[in-house]
Amino acid sequence: MPTPHDETDRPDGSVPGESRGISRKGLIKAALLTGAVPLVTGGGVAWARDRDHSATPARRPAGPLAPTPACHDGDEPTVPNIEGPYFKPNSPLRTNLVGSGMPGTPLTVSGYVFGRDCAPVSGALLDFWQADDNGAYDMTGFTLRGHQFSTAQGEFTLTTIMPGLYPGRTRHIHVKVQAPGQPILTTQLYFPGEPRNSTDAYYDVRLQMTVQQVGSGEQATFDFVLDVDGNTTPPPTDPPPGGSGTWAAGTAYRAGDQVTYDSVTYRCVQAHTSMTGWEPPNVPALWQRV
Ligand SMILES: [Fe+2]
Repeated sequence: MPTPHDETDRPDGSVPGESRGISRKGLIKAALLTGAVPLVTGGGVAWARDRDHSATPARRPAGPLAPTPACHDGDEPTVPNIEGPYFKPNSPLRTNLVGSGMPGTPLTVSGYVFGRDCAPVSGALLDFWQADDNGAYDMTGFTLRGHQFSTAQGEFTLTTIMPGLYPGRTRHIHVKVQAPGQPILTTQLYFPGEPRNSTDAYYDVRLQMTVQQVGSGEQATFDFVLDVDGNTTPPPTDPPPGGSGTWAAGTAYRAGDQVTYDSVTYRCVQAHTSMTGWEPPNVPALWQRV
């Protein structure tokens, strides 16, 4: 059981045992952010797992380029954590969970989904649910629930509020993460410096986000590592030409619905509202070829 000192003694939010050196994932992230090869100085990398705590997105230290090191992160997959009693399927497709007039401290959670081969996973399903500012879950509707898909670069961003506390638990956000056609990872994300971290039996420091205050809100980062090979599917932002068939953007599909697209039949595997760019062949997390 971690003690409060495990968190408060690490003002940078780093995780014990995690390498602070140059990692391939850090280099990949730097390359994705700058649109160029990773920029490396003698002592570090442009963005090594978000540990530099700069709020400025364009971070590129000056210095010569260095060769990309071999993939030897040794990262273990993100550990599972209990689902709890409040999950509901069929959450809406959205990255912003904040409703009009919703009380609470603004929070963004962003990061990457990686495979164990260090490559980003595109089109991964991320389904978030959490308590409101008063520590209550919406079990009748879908307040503070929503799913999204990682980008072609494996990125995700969630706009939400700080989850409230409820009896028996420390502060946390629930999430299910699934690479296309792969098993679902059910886990939770935790916050550093929370007094209840030391008394919550489910708290796991390996699931602790890096959090910094920005203005009146909080910005958190966390990278998921799935037990899959990355980049196994085409990115969902590159629709093929054509598109004839019964599938249409802006339609609410439910699991089990069947459509045709370019003369191929697909079955819906996850309820969602369709949109341009997420045509059936591009999002295997949503549509399964029949
Ligand atoms: Fe919970």
